Amino acid sequence: VSGIVYLVGGGPGDPRLLTLRGAEVLRTADVVVYDRLAPAALLDLAPARAELVDAGKAPGRASPSQDAINALMVSRAKAGRTVVRLKGGDPFVFGRGGEEALACARAAVACEVVPGVSAAIAGPASAGIPVTHRGLGTTFAVVTATASGGAGPDLRRVATAVDTLVVLMAGNRVDEVCEELVAAGRDPEEPAALVQWATTPAQRSVVSSVRDLPQVSKRHGLGPPAVLVVGRVVGLAHAAEWLAAPPLDRALSSS
Ligand SMILES: C[S@@+](CC[C@H](N)C(=O)[O-])C[C@H]1O[C@@H](n2cnc3c(N)ncnc32)[C@H](O)[C@@H]1O
Repeated sequence: VSGIVYLVGGGPGDPRLLTLRGAEVLRTADVVVYDRLAPAALLDLAPARAELVDAGKAPGRASPSQDAINALMVSRAKAGRTVVRLKGGDPFVFGRGGEEALACARAAVACEVVPGVSAAIAGPASAGIPVTHRGLGTTFAVVTATASGGAGPDLRRVATAVDTLVVLMAGNRVDEVCEELVAAGRDPEEPAALVQWATTPAQRSVVSSVRDLPQVSKRHGLGPPAVLVVGRVVGLAHAAEWLAAPPLDRALSSS
């Protein structure tokens, strides 16, 4: 009998943000193929006998190609195994989960998607920033800073189309992204934040303006993985006393 591939969203970082369904399927895994940003503690949920395959990038080592990952998942499932493909955040938000689901479909391998809590929403939230808020932001978009090799057409296309802009993969190109947003017509005085390692003990964030965010985040040494948020909702980060007991270093600075 053929096995199955579960595409599981591991959530943004805190392992407790995995869904119950995600935990359930991890406990049945024969094989776990995991990404670098998938919370490492979740691997403990897999049975001790499970084969663990690191599909993430590590310094000095190339990550396996997407084709190689697809082929591995498909071949293990065809051999009757239960495969969990564990990803950071949600598998279908800049996670190539769609490509993996299609690869399963093409190979006639059963596949179930288990959605996850995306860093696109949870990242801002963990710094006290709701992506929508009545009167401040009623539309939002999630874009990546890297799809076109830098701040590029996708960013320009949505720059002024929504109230709240969430930019993923922006951690090492904050200056390019902010410049591009201003060039596309976004107000340089608008509040902007960078949230690094959201929902983990290493979380740090800075709040500034679109103009000053590159300099402020550099001064505090913030880099990837980070979510960049632009919009009036960022102003609520200052009023975030309602955050449940954030670790002291969470809200590193506002300037
Ligand atoms: C390849 S994308 C994957 C997004 C993921 N599928 C999701 O839904 O969260 C990776 C980017 O997500 C963001 N990211 C993921 N985890 C994060 C975290 N704990 N804190 C801040 N940003 C994070 C960063 O922008 C990072 O560059």
